This record gives sequence, structure tokens and C-alpha cells, in this order.
Amino acid sequence: MTLRCSAIVLVLTLAMATAQTNSASKDNSIYGELSKAPAKAAARRNPLEADPEAVAAGGKLFARHCAECHGDTADGGKKGPSLRAAEVQQATPGSLFWLLTNGVVRRGMPVWSKLPEPQRWQLVSFIKSLTPASQSDPNVEKAPHP
Ligand code: HEC
Repeated sequence: MTLRCSAIVLVLTLAMATAQTNSASKDNSIYGELSKAPAKAAARRNPLEADPEAVAAGGKLFARHCAECHGDTADGGKKGPSLRAAEVQQATPGSLFWLLTNGVVRRGMPVWSKLPEPQRWQLVSFIKSLTPASQSDPNVEKAPHP
């Protein structure tokens, strides 16, 4: 292969790689990662589900570790998306736990496997306790409370 030929191949390869990266970030929703949790992990139940103190403890952990990116009220900040979005609120506790354990490092979400498991479940309890964002479905009128 001549030098010019390889140069063209190199340029084409680079162009294709760039195009792929671009379309991948467009196609995948920011929350796409949650749906990648393996079935077994997604099915895990929150062992602190019935613990009334888990939400408050999770709230403190959130303020300390997560608010800087996801915002004080978890509805999104400069660096991280809202955790009140339907995608997060509808995710199983197991998927959220899996996500905290593994992070989405290449997209700026750190790994939290250093936090002890009970603390990760407390964070899951806290996230699940949040009021979902009403603007996630603008067509649904806010229903009055019964
Ligand atoms: C350094 C900034 C940063 C910190 C700190 C951080 N996050 Fe994130 N988080 C992100 C970003 C960026 C994303 C979006 C990742 C993506 O594109 O998939 C994200 C996504 C998420 C998601 C949605 C899952 C998804 O697929 O995007 C959850 C749930 C979440 N974070 C919870 C937490 C919790 C709980 C903490 C605290 C223990 C935390 N995050 C701390 C930046 C951060």
C-alpha cells in the first residue's frame, strides 16, 4: 500500500470513529446506562426498604457526595442530570444500586463502590423517595391530591 493510500485509510477510519461516537451520544439517552444493569442485579431488593431512617441517612449522604453534580434538590446541576426524571424514578432499586456501584465513569458519573453497601442502599432509598419531576411529561396535567 502506498503512503498516500494509507493516509486516506487513516483519515477515513478517524472520520468513521468520530461519526460513531457522535451518533452514540445522541442515540443513548443520558439515563440509558440504568437499563444496562444485568437482570440479576436489577432484581435485587433494597434490604433497607422498610427502614424508616434510610431515607434521611441517604439524604445526608446525597448532600455530601452527590449534590455538587446533581444539585441540592437532585433536580439536576451543572455536571449531572436530574434524579427526579422518569428514567431514574422508574428504575428498580437494584438497577440504581448497580449504577452507584459501577458508575458511568466515561461520562462523568463516579464509582461509589467505596461507600459501604448499606450506604449505597440508603442513597437508593433517598432517590426513590424523591417526588418525580412533573415536567418529565408535559402532557399530563398535575392531578390534584385526593
Ligand atoms: C462528579 C459529578 C457527579 C457526582 C459527584 C455524582 N454524579 Fe451521578 N451522574 C453524573 C453524571 C455526569 C451522570 C450522567 C451519566 C450518563 O451520561 O450516563 C450521572 C448519572 C447518575 C444517575 C443516572 C443514571 C444514568 O444512567 O445516567 C444516577 C442515579 C446518579 N448519577 C446518582 C448519583 C448519586 C446517588 C451520587 C452520589 C453518591 C452521584 N450520582 C454523584 C455526575 C455525578
